[in-house]
Amino acid sequence: MNDKILRLNIEKLVYGGYGFSKINGKAVFVRYAAPKELVDAEIIKEKKDFSEAVVRNIVLSSPSRREAPCPYYGICGGCQIQHITYEEQLNAKREILLESLQRIGKLKEIDYRGEIPSQKEFNYRVRIQFKIQNGKIGFFRWDRREVVDIEECLLAHEKINYLIPNLREIMKAINDLQEIHVHYSPTRDEAVLKFVSITHTDEGLIQSLLENALPEWVVGVGNYGKLGSTLVKRYKVGREHIFMDVEKWKFRVSNDSFFQVNYTLWKEFIREVIDLAKGYKRGVDLHSGVGFFTIPLSEKGNFIEGADANPSAVKDAEYNAKLNNRENVIFTEATAYKYLKRRIGEIIDLVVVDPPRSGLLKEEVDLLLKNKPEKVVYISCNPSTFARDVRMLAKGGYKLSSVKLIDNFPQTYHIESIALLELSE
Ligand SMILES: C[S@@+](CC[C@H](N)C(=O)[O-])C[C@H]1O[C@@H](n2cnc3c(N)ncnc32)[C@H](O)[C@@H]1O
Repeated sequence: MNDKILRLNIEKLVYGGYGFSKINGKAVFVRYAAPKELVDAEIIKEKKDFSEAVVRNIVLSSPSRREAPCPYYGICGGCQIQHITYEEQLNAKREILLESLQRIGKLKEIDYRGEIPSQKEFNYRVRIQFKIQNGKIGFFRWDRREVVDIEECLLAHEKINYLIPNLREIMKAINDLQEIHVHYSPTRDEAVLKFVSITHTDEGLIQSLLENALPEWVVGVGNYGKLGSTLVKRYKVGREHIFMDVEKWKFRVSNDSFFQVNYTLWKEFIREVIDLAKGYKRGVDLHSGVGFFTIPLSEKGNFIEGADANPSAVKDAEYNAKLNNRENVIFTEATAYKYLKRRIGEIIDLVVVDPPRSGLLKEEVDLLLKNKPEKVVYISCNPSTFARDVRMLAKGGYKLSSVKLIDNFPQTYHIESIALLELSE
């Protein structure tokens, strides 16, 4: 046997979608492994404290292993756990979330309220970022920045997949295209696109592509350049935004604003947050986006203010407050830190946070602890930073009253959760 190939017992799945094993006391993180199986895995990275490996041969297969439905799985880097049954994906995510809260959050007892599964295991994503490279359209391979050419993505909404042949035509017309982003509204059947190119693309060309190479339901296109990982808009043709509907709520979402990607869970997501947060006097939503939670929440308390660092999201949120006839909600463009600093000493009884993967800044937690709202509703997309922040909040007098998993990202390692923290002093 190749000396880089090891026979490994996989104990469980860990964050990142890796199978976890140990050899001579050293942790090995194994790609494409399933819990409770025996595999031969090739070591692809050796570090002082751990190694990374990839399954080359399954010796004893896990009962939770299945044939991945996607033909690109194992090459494309988009999905990590498609070879595992959906039931086991949920079990593994629950274990990872609880383990993070115990190990990093130092919690002994956790009131875990279960998982909300995605209503669709596939075709649930309404926003997709395709990479373009040498006439190929798709996503990067898991092992290098080389595009895997795809005909469809099983995570994408069907309508986004129908667009791929049109996108191929566009790739031919714009020679230095790097990415195409598609944001689709399943409730209005309309989409906006971003064409990310190295150099400025002629506006007339994009106008003509929008009119002639794309279906009518693509209502606008923006041309962007990339500065590091930040997109910089050059101009737009057609409409700037689409509209999304969740029950009676209507949301305008601009090309540059965030909206929850799994449309099959929009309704449940809002309902869960409302259930935890309702009955407040003065609420604050520190990462309010286009008002996805803030606007429905405004109906369940006296007054709420949303803050977001992205000016595009704040403009949409202000528009959405009017669109939904809400008069007890306002929005402010500010980072969570700046917003909290301005509000020191003011009486706020509810704070909702939904930070990026990096979680809250320590300074933000410190400011929260100065105001001490009765309730903090924490929506997290990263169990490690969530558990770290829960630990800091617990030291400051908060108790984690409940936590629930909402599976926004089937087939991938991402873990989203909704938690309530209450002041216990
Ligand atoms: C995961 S999204 C959630 C948005 C909204 N809660 C929703 O569900 O649609 C995170 C939001 O945080 C904003 N954001 C990122 N860093 C921020 C910061 N330091 N302060 C305030 N907002 C921030 C982003 O612009 C984005 O709208």
